Amino acid sequence: MGRGQRLYSEGIANKWAINNLIFTSPAARVLLRSAAALSLLAVTMLNNHARSLSYQIVLDFLYLGPVTVAAWNSLLEGLTFALIAGCLRMFTNPLAFSAMRASDYVDFLVVTGFYLIVPVTIELLRRLARQRQQLRRNLQLTTEALLEALQLRDQYTGRHSRQVAAYARRIAASLGLSPHFQECLYLAGLLHDIGKIGIDDACLNKPGALTPEEWQAIRHHPVLGYKIIKKVTGNQQIIARAVLYHHERYDGRGYPRGLKGATIPLEARILSVADCFNAMTTDRVYRQALAPDEAVKELRRCAGSQFDPEIVDIFCRILAGDGLTQNREEEKEANSL
Ligand SMILES: [Fe+2]
Repeated sequence: MGRGQRLYSEGIANKWAINNLIFTSPAARVLLRSAAALSLLAVTMLNNHARSLSYQIVLDFLYLGPVTVAAWNSLLEGLTFALIAGCLRMFTNPLAFSAMRASDYVDFLVVTGFYLIVPVTIELLRRLARQRQQLRRNLQLTTEALLEALQLRDQYTGRHSRQVAAYARRIAASLGLSPHFQECLYLAGLLHDIGKIGIDDACLNKPGALTPEEWQAIRHHPVLGYKIIKKVTGNQQIIARAVLYHHERYDGRGYPRGLKGATIPLEARILSVADCFNAMTTDRVYRQALAPDEAVKELRRCAGSQFDPEIVDIFCRILAGDGLTQNREEEKEANSL
């Protein structure tokens, strides 16, 4: 189990989300319908021989199989199969069919009601999944809109944010974090500098050295960003925390709160490495871009002081895997020559 997975288990259930199991192709739907009908027939044939209570109870649960399969197609099919299953269970059962007592009818109603719960539950889960998908889509669109607004003010930050987001997501994937976490981190990467929208142009695009007051204003952007993100993302804490703490340093000398080591949220430690690497390898008005190898040396030099060393290590391996830099073994060999 990856280190990140131990820290963050949210989103792991997404792998089994019901929206991954909705069949939309007509062939799959026919196949599903046929499977439901055949299994209903098979259980009914067994029902013909139900002569003991324990056997009957097993069959009651077996009938849930075809009902569930049919309900996966649609609510209507699920309800129809539940009613048919209830009738077949009653009228093909030799004990109930021959006796036809009042208790058999009560039994029929209870069991059919039990079967009807399945399609209704599946439909509720399906609606919930659709709503979650819609919310996710809305969040992506809002993120894009905010990034566009930031890009209008500052071309560099818009481009830079997209690259930071992609790097951050890859680090999260290498750490074995859940797809939900990776997605949140990607959005956090896109929005990490959104607070700069509230900083004066003269200060934001100043080519020369900044005054202490201007630095103070710049250092306020994670807090401004956090305030904006909180309103957009609601309870998506991962995104808000990543934005708020992306300028914290591993040795506790960062801002805005001076958090140290593992007290800095993992998402922010990841974002910090991706952010600084991209900033170093991009041309700015006040300095030229470093080559990827030079930037990696700088990341390694600052591992343990500015950055989480484990994340630096993982990121350097990703870059070496992309062929952007030498890997560490090659680096060592080259240095020993
Ligand atoms: Fe920033």
